[in-house]
Amino acid sequence: MSLVEREAARRRTHAIISHPDAGKTTLTEKLLLYAGAIHLAGSVKSRKASRHALSDFMKIEQERGISVSSTVLQFEYHGSAINLLDTPGHADFSEDTYRTLAAVDSAVMLLDHTKGVEARTLKLFEVCRMRMLPIVTFMNKLDRVGKDPIELLDEVRTTLNLNVVPMNWPLGMGREFEGVIDIATNQVYVYSGGKHGTEKLETEIISLDEARERFGNNRVQEAVEQIELLSIAGDPFTREGFLAGHISPVFWGSAMTNFGVEPLLSYLADHAAPPAMREATRKNGETFIVEPSDERFTGVIFKIQANMNPKHRDRIAFMRCVSGRFRRGMDVVLASSGEVLRLSNPHTFMAQERSIVDDAFPGDIVGLYDPGKLRIGETLVEDTGGGKEDIFQYKGIPRFAPEFFVRVVLKDPLRRKQLDQGLEQLSQEGVIQAFYRDGFGRGDPYLGAVGLLQFEVLRERLESEYGARCVLETQPFGAARWLRGPDEAIDWIRKRRDYTLVEDRRGNPVVLVQGNWALEFARKNAPGIELFDVEPL
Ligand code: G4P
Repeated sequence: MSLVEREAARRRTHAIISHPDAGKTTLTEKLLLYAGAIHLAGSVKSRKASRHALSDFMKIEQERGISVSSTVLQFEYHGSAINLLDTPGHADFSEDTYRTLAAVDSAVMLLDHTKGVEARTLKLFEVCRMRMLPIVTFMNKLDRVGKDPIELLDEVRTTLNLNVVPMNWPLGMGREFEGVIDIATNQVYVYSGGKHGTEKLETEIISLDEARERFGNNRVQEAVEQIELLSIAGDPFTREGFLAGHISPVFWGSAMTNFGVEPLLSYLADHAAPPAMREATRKNGETFIVEPSDERFTGVIFKIQANMNPKHRDRIAFMRCVSGRFRRGMDVVLASSGEVLRLSNPHTFMAQERSIVDDAFPGDIVGLYDPGKLRIGETLVEDTGGGKEDIFQYKGIPRFAPEFFVRVVLKDPLRRKQLDQGLEQLSQEGVIQAFYRDGFGRGDPYLGAVGLLQFEVLRERLESEYGARCVLETQPFGAARWLRGPDEAIDWIRKRRDYTLVEDRRGNPVVLVQGNWALEFARKNAPGIELFDVEPL
């Protein structure tokens, strides 16, 4: 086995998808705690205080008063190198959250078992489904009373059309939560309670018989019968089904009290998907498969973050390594332009700090200083001097239909050129999406975002980087769709005053509407119209 093959095979690159408040931050911390990557022991008083220590981007974010980064953390467990990409959640939800899912090989779907499948989870799940990502499910907050476990599994199965197979099973919940039964071994992991666990717990493991004695035969028997019922009614777990994204193993626990974190972490380390092969296209249109173990280094940019250091105004491009071995100082070709770039000063992100990386392997995330040449979706290919024919590209990262819209009003009309330049650059960077009424680059664009914070970032950056002070005027749209269809259908839309037909940066037609009902109305009245919430690539 070559070094690249060996290293790629032990990479586990994943993200946690969840609705705000389901416990993603808590679970992230606990995964790091159990992997030995951080120590939360002793003096940490509250989760919120401890959270600040986790990422050095955060200091900067706090100075700016907003949170814009998704953190990348790397740690080792059971011989696997685990890359955990954090996805911005609350008010800072943005396209970055979606793009992160283009850079991972699997996802942990975290559900609050008192709430079930919530809106944000559903949306993020759809993105995972598009990529057929393997998904591990974690049911959190078992220390609280939640939904009946069988009904909850049923809800997940029917809402997401995902075949969920429990790996362990809860014994009670809330005050009566006693632990989980490990289905493969029939052993009971005993819950010991406690709040805001800052230390690793030694979990007591007992047999079913001992559990019957300790917690009462009836309660244990009820759980055993539920497990039996599920094993008869549900499909069996298969690794192929899991890797193809059809079957999701389910774990139960309580991240806050550290319970159930270790089985999840072990599963991620031992069984989650290693980096997969990817399809690439040459300039002449020929497609072929690149294996992670291929010797030639390739990577894809999935996120660009500006101003990580307010003094230097630098931009960091986050690159997912796809194949081969990345080395500091190597030359790569940018597939879109053919330009050669030397990658010096690359960064990696260990649990607590940013540090220089000398080499990296498929699945790893490397932060590159961006001289202004990198774009989201750019493919970087190791320069082997083979000329243009030798360059290829991975499929780009699609953009998702925005849900919030503004128009920019410039305060100082003399800064028009700077504003246009800023808008073009920031939309290329993926901060916002620009839609033009009269063709690309002409007139004031409508600007769209999937999260409101993107507009904050836009306003601040237009002012600080381009000297263009602006007011953002909210627009009365609530949805955008890329569209395709016969001329008559497009004409039907064009003629209506309540539908605004625009073009995206590539000249694709897009319709802006007030709400989803307008989309339904168009589907009914403009026969043949097709509406997409993801940009066609
Ligand atoms: P998020 O990143 O997904 O938004 O969730 P976060 O971890 O911030 O957790 C949201 C709230 O849920 C927090 O409470 C957190 O303590 C709580 N939580 C997380 N895991 C569990 C769990 O297993 N059981 C219970 N009962 N609660 C859990 P908070 O009140 O907002 O913060 P704090 O005062 O607890 O720090």
